[in-house]
Amino acid sequence: MAIQAQKGTKDMLPGDAYKWNYIERKLREISAEYGIREIRTPMFEATELFERGVGETTDVVQKEMYTFEDKGGRSITLKPEGTAPTVRAFIENSLYADAQPTKVYYFTDCFRYEKMQKGRLRQFHQYGIEVFGSQEPSIDAELISLVMRVLNDFGIEGLSLNINSLGCPTCRAKYNEALKEYLKANYENLCGTCKTRFEKNPMRIIDCKEKSCKQIVKDVPIILDFICDECNEHFSKLKNYLDIMGIQYNIDPQIVRGLDYYSKTVFEIIKDGLTLCGGGRYDYLVKEIGGPDTPAMGFALGLERLLLTLEEEGIQIPMTNRCDVYIGAMGDIAKLQSMKLAFELRKLGVKAEIDHLGKSVKAQMKYANKIGAQYTFVIGDSEIEADKINIKRMSDGEQFQVSLSNIQEIANIVK
Ligand code: HAM
Repeated sequence: MAIQAQKGTKDMLPGDAYKWNYIERKLREISAEYGIREIRTPMFEATELFERGVGETTDVVQKEMYTFEDKGGRSITLKPEGTAPTVRAFIENSLYADAQPTKVYYFTDCFRYEKMQKGRLRQFHQYGIEVFGSQEPSIDAELISLVMRVLNDFGIEGLSLNINSLGCPTCRAKYNEALKEYLKANYENLCGTCKTRFEKNPMRIIDCKEKSCKQIVKDVPIILDFICDECNEHFSKLKNYLDIMGIQYNIDPQIVRGLDYYSKTVFEIIKDGLTLCGGGRYDYLVKEIGGPDTPAMGFALGLERLLLTLEEEGIQIPMTNRCDVYIGAMGDIAKLQSMKLAFELRKLGVKAEIDHLGKSVKAQMKYANKIGAQYTFVIGDSEIEADKINIKRMSDGEQFQVSLSNIQEIANIVK
């Protein structure tokens, strides 16, 4: 049997490329409006970065990473997410020495060995933003407003924006004690992984995907009842900023997020049960990875999930025209001419195509129709001799006679 794509991976086919390009273009435009610049980090990193960054007790690190030893004996991991690599790059390249805040966005492939289900892949793509250097809740609100606007601009309705605060290490310590106290009675019924999380990081249990654990955590104490005055004030201000922009939200005290680095604000955007976007503040991660004490906030939007939602909602993505003009050729001399013409027209920005299969003129025109050529014309000996061609507009059949040697005029008509 022919070799097939790996489970959880998808080919992006030419017929869908315009959708990806459209989405990326829109996201780049909106990033620029907010003064956010692009960053690209490598596809693989030292495994330790994710162990320390994402957290050793998370599902991502414990169960889902694509980790291997390279030929030099180093432990390498394909990036499961974009935040930890961006933090590493921020520190390694001393971006903290620039005027702050540092605001970056990225498009990245991510790799997670997860169980397949709708909208869940093993290689997927994220658009993410990370902002370093500000602890103000206004930046949290600004990023949330940005992504809500993007999704609204795409025409997606019925989104739920859910927010929560995970507090700081001081509030978290108190909360962990309360959680342990609550979970103690059901310790024996926790899954094996969660038993190890009980002492090390009990909050992770709330996020466990095992059915038995989900049942146990249904009525756990909520962290909002344990957050300190400062974290409370931060959360109140965030809500005020969202209110003033008219952005509706729900407070969901169950959001703990699947990655360990969060503090204070966390949020998720959900459409019909599918989480399109998730993010939050991570004020301690830069220091944890070895950089200066730097607060930070970010999010990532899953691009496959965004596309899936657009398709399910019947939202059309404008298709770009694939071919401006198809140049048909009859005979060897005409083929030579068509080659030159296509070359010259493309230099003038025209999407021009010619035959490369030795097809008959009739078959060439059939093909032109199939690929949606906007204009066509045919060159033969008589057109070359008379220096005249008839350019046909395919939408209504109207013809335009021009000189074959006047390439600029041809370009003006077909572009
Ligand atoms: P995350 O919630 O793990 O957060 O992922 C963000 C988004 O990536 C999800 O909301 C979802 O749309 C998409 N996603 C995640 N896993 C998959 C999958 N297996 N298949 C398809 N799509 C998926 C993060 O990754 C954080 N780094 C976000 C962040 C940035 N927080 C602060 N800064």
